[in-house]
Amino acid sequence: MPEQTWNPKNYDQNARFVTDLGAGVVELLAPHPGERILDLGCGDGVLTQKLVEFGCRVVGVDLSPDFIVAARSLGLDVRPMDGQALTFNGEFDAVFSNAALHWMKDLEAVIDGVWRALKPGGRFVAEMGGKGNIEKIEKAARRALRKRGLDKKVPEPNVYPSPGEYRALLEKRGFEVRSIELFPRPTPLPKDIKAWLKTFRKGHLEAIPESDREHFLEEIQEEVRPFLCGEGGRWSADYVRLRFAAFKP
Ligand code: BEZ
Repeated sequence: MPEQTWNPKNYDQNARFVTDLGAGVVELLAPHPGERILDLGCGDGVLTQKLVEFGCRVVGVDLSPDFIVAARSLGLDVRPMDGQALTFNGEFDAVFSNAALHWMKDLEAVIDGVWRALKPGGRFVAEMGGKGNIEKIEKAARRALRKRGLDKKVPEPNVYPSPGEYRALLEKRGFEVRSIELFPRPTPLPKDIKAWLKTFRKGHLEAIPESDREHFLEEIQEEVRPFLCGEGGRWSADYVRLRFAAFKP
């Protein structure tokens, strides 16, 4: 069973901010017309399409069958593939990724696959959740699981490396790291924390008996309310981003 599944319609309503906030990492990628780019964990393809609009030849890969259908409906070249087992060889000018790498827990397998996929001189430019990402939400969710004796049964679905940890892995594989930064990006949400959890913590919810789900969601939301609910009842999530650019010599 995957730890997380995706519903493109729900994603569009509750998570469009993920691609809307991708402009910074696209700027760092600085795509040139004609370049061949791999979009690693392309999701529903909205950002992949932006790269196509720059005149790039883009291949997207994702593991979610529903996202692949959504991305293909935009006319994109998208293939089902695990980012931890990429099968490309020396064919891309750049590998790009936004808000996807934190779902791929075998960091070294990802970096190995990216290395193989790139041409010499190619670049790996990405943004993901970094150390401290959504800490308030994660702690409250863990506490609510523990209270129900489900802590061991529900694994942490994400990994949030520090810049030091990720730089060391990139350099171990032979990459030259041009930039790597960690920065907080408190992110306004379209709805509340309960809607966020329903979109991004499906694995947690599936472990909770249906009769207790609303209470579980309510409990987490109330715990984080003092930190994440601002004026006018507007909610935000305590995102922390790790953004980097690394080159294959
Ligand atoms: C993120 O983009 O950092 C993220 C989103 C959903 C769950 C976990 C992390």
